[in-house]
Amino acid sequence: MIKIAPSILSADFAKLGMEIAEVEAGGADWIHVDVMDGHFVPNITLGPPIVSAIQHYTTLPLDVHLMIEQPERYIADFVKAGAKVITVHAEACTHLHRVVHMIKEMGVQVGVAINPGTPVSVLQEVLPDLDMVLIMTVNPGFGGQSFIPRTLDKIREVRQTLNESSLLDVHIQVDGGVTVDTAPLVVEAGADVLVAGSAVFGQSNRALAISQIRASIEG
Ligand code: DX5
Ligand code: ZN
Repeated sequence: MIKIAPSILSADFAKLGMEIAEVEAGGADWIHVDVMDGHFVPNITLGPPIVSAIQHYTTLPLDVHLMIEQPERYIADFVKAGAKVITVHAEACTHLHRVVHMIKEMGVQVGVAINPGTPVSVLQEVLPDLDMVLIMTVNPGFGGQSFIPRTLDKIREVRQTLNESSLLDVHIQVDGGVTVDTAPLVVEAGADVLVAGSAVFGQSNRALAISQIRASIEG
């Protein structure tokens, strides 16, 4: 079962509650929340107060993607704010194993993300502890960028490793440049959680946008 997680980065921030309610009604599975600190990535977005505010507008899991340095400093705040899945970047964690376990101990699901320039091998020692691997299919920082085709091999590599290790419950999420054209490719490679920002919020009919992505991977 493939999940679609609209990224609110491309939503209208002045109407965030309504935007989220609209994608929930339109068939979204998770709400993807992009947190950027202006250090790990060039852009600055939002923090725990916004996550806390939007949790009242949806029953869907809030999938919080932390593109921040020293994420361990903020994990508790995001859990308190209502995050159900927290993903940190391998590149931002000196002590990745420690951060992964800190998140697990707080009772939420844990993901680790890798940038396009980072090899899959950095995940090896924490893979059995994860609920999700996030393969970035663009360099993080902005919505609306073009999908990087070379990342398909990384998705395949993670799927193969998970299969060989009998880690069949670990999700593979992809984030960046997911459209009706690229969604079938990432699913074929083994992804099962698709983040889509501009492909959903860039269209006036969000329900139609979600159903078109779903149709592209089902047929
Ligand atoms: C990229 C963010 C993405 C972004 C995706 O840095 O992590 O979640 O919103 O946007 P699209 O789907 O427009 O590429
Ligand atoms: Zn993201």
